[in-house]
Amino acid sequence: MVSYHVVNKKQFSVIFVKFSVCFLLMGLAYRIFSSTSIQFSPLEFFHKGFLPENTLPPALESGNLTAKVMDQSSRNGKCDLYIGDWVPDTTGPFYTNHTCYSIEAHQNCMRNGRPDTGYLYWRWKPRDCELPKFNPKRFLDMTRHKSLAFIGDSIMRKHVQSLLCILSQFDNFDFVVIAGGKWYLKTAVYYENSKIVGCHNCKGKNITEVGFEYAYHKALNSILKHITRSKHKTFTFFRTTTPDHFENGEWNNGGYCNRTGPFKKGEIDMRDINEAMRKIELDEFERALRISSEVGLTVKLLDTTFLSLLRPDGHPGVYRQYQPFAGGNRHRKVQNDCLHWCLPGPIDSWNDLMMETLVSS
Ligand SMILES: *[C@@H]1O[C@H](CO)[C@@H](O)[C@H](O)[C@H]1NC(C)=O
Ligand SMILES: *[C@@H]1O[C@H](CO)[C@@H](O)[C@H](O)[C@H]1NC(C)=O
Ligand SMILES: *[C@@H]1O[C@H](CO)[C@@H](O)[C@H](O)[C@H]1NC(C)=O
Ligand SMILES: *[C@@H]1O[C@H](CO)[C@@H](O)[C@H](O)[C@H]1NC(C)=O
Repeated sequence: MVSYHVVNKKQFSVIFVKFSVCFLLMGLAYRIFSSTSIQFSPLEFFHKGFLPENTLPPALESGNLTAKVMDQSSRNGKCDLYIGDWVPDTTGPFYTNHTCYSIEAHQNCMRNGRPDTGYLYWRWKPRDCELPKFNPKRFLDMTRHKSLAFIGDSIMRKHVQSLLCILSQFDNFDFVVIAGGKWYLKTAVYYENSKIVGCHNCKGKNITEVGFEYAYHKALNSILKHITRSKHKTFTFFRTTTPDHFENGEWNNGGYCNRTGPFKKGEIDMRDINEAMRKIELDEFERALRISSEVGLTVKLLDTTFLSLLRPDGHPGVYRQYQPFAGGNRHRKVQNDCLHWCLPGPIDSWNDLMMETLVSS
């Protein structure tokens, strides 16, 4: 699945169009990109480009403090933002369920009655540098009249919402978000030029099992190829997969996630499926990186896999629905969501990482 979120802040409308992987594999990727049926043609964003000369806009008056902090960490060229730990942070989230109206019901954990709030008071601390907090004003200034393309899995949508929450008091920005991901794990028959080329999870269908890897590779490859071949210089973030945290079961057979704090490094291992997805993502990213450096594009990895792995406490769990235990029945069986993320929540830090990557590149 490829999902487009076209977010036009002026109207504050989110258009969410879903295409199937079959379409992608049938070579429609290109047409999707130039489709005019989307209210705001993504191609237009590409035309505008993003930071085409690789220059930063002049700092804002209010950007003084932030700019200084950033200089510090970006001077440290060797700092890997994605190696680190979650450390306690009393500041708490940028926004609440009162100040942000783009939180969807199933991720509004506070409103749905999640009793603990500890999960809100952590910040990501890269081992070798500080990660400055997201600065909405500066971010908007940098992206004014510019576009950003995101490529990642379906959780991207939550990321966009987190960003919207943080930016909600500002205006004037445009985004293109491209997402795929966990959907590829579902049963599927893959077509290429209208011919069946294989399937995933289709026992008894007399079709060659090619695994989700096949489709995932192809889909990411199509998108990245399109971007790297485009004449328009786009600044692209490629976000890696984020693991789920179902324990003692899966989403459909009683798995749950009721931890209230992060793991430390070494306390949790990645599951094979996430390793596999991430490997494909890194493969395709590296391929895109090689091409993009030849043609002068910037493609950056937003490598959220590991830091998300450490946050079993950041999912809605049973609080994906409103007051699941209303009426006093604490033992009611409630399906858990241990894949998507609470807002506010850990994924707010993805914006810090994005901002820092933008500023230091
Ligand atoms: C930035 O901070 C320095 C002191 O750290 C101050 O002298 C300067 O006036 C500030 N600039 C702006 C634009 O606020
Ligand atoms: C926000 O969360 C609080 C619990 O912290 C809840 O009482 C309130 O109803 C929520 N408000 C909205 C607008 O969701
Ligand atoms: C399975 O597909 C092959 C090749 O298309 C065909 O020769 C064979 O008869 C099919 N078997 C069944 C049970 O449909
Ligand atoms: C989490 O849920 C399981 C199963 O319902 C329960 O046994 C366990 O005590 C819970 N843990 C916490 C920290 O609430």
